[in-house]
Amino acid sequence: MITLKEIQKNPSALEFIKQTEIALRALDYTHHGLKHSKLVANRARTVAREIGLSKRSQELVSIAGFTHDFANFLSRTYHNYLGALIFQQLFANDFSPKELAIVMQAICNHDKYKMKLSNSVSAVVILADKSDVHRSRVTIKDMKKIKSDIHNRVNYATKSSRLGINKKSKRITLSLKIDTNFVPLMEYFEIFTERMVYCRKAASYLGYKFGLVLNNIKLL
Ligand SMILES: [Fe+2]
Ligand SMILES: [Fe+2]
Repeated sequence: MITLKEIQKNPSALEFIKQTEIALRALDYTHHGLKHSKLVANRARTVAREIGLSKRSQELVSIAGFTHDFANFLSRTYHNYLGALIFQQLFANDFSPKELAIVMQAICNHDKYKMKLSNSVSAVVILADKSDVHRSRVTIKDMKKIKSDIHNRVNYATKSSRLGINKKSKRITLSLKIDTNFVPLMEYFEIFTERMVYCRKAASYLGYKFGLVLNNIKLL
């Protein structure tokens, strides 16, 4: 059965991620390249392992996590749908129809906020992706430009982000340290409320409560 290691050696997948990084940098968007892909893959695997999904599901979440953004080089809008279809074109022969459907769905669902979830793999990928908020994702260097865009501003203000899982209390908690001199907490909410609601939906699908801690203050 194909693993993340093999997917990570696929020249087309790697090139698509590279082109995505270039295309989104040209748009002054936050980083969506190899580092984000690897982080989401690793974080998804950790979440899946900690909540007790099967070994194969752990592999599938990491594969979907690694490839979830790789169609951004074609279009930012619909990149989730395009990503699922590209995945199918590249790897149709490497998965059973069921596994292929699960990974395609997870790639699709990561940016489909109105979706009602029906699979744990999708839910885990959402949590891994949406929790990647960090200063290092801001690609532009010009401080004036950073300050002029709320997405960049909020990411830049985030000095650390950690996703913790507590199996006993059934909580998945995102803890962020935000530089409030740089961005007021209200701005954070302006941008991230929708994302956090999506994380809550994903956690709830997995049987967990979603917690949010900002600068050591428990908000959720
Ligand atoms: Fe995405
Ligand atoms: Fe992403």
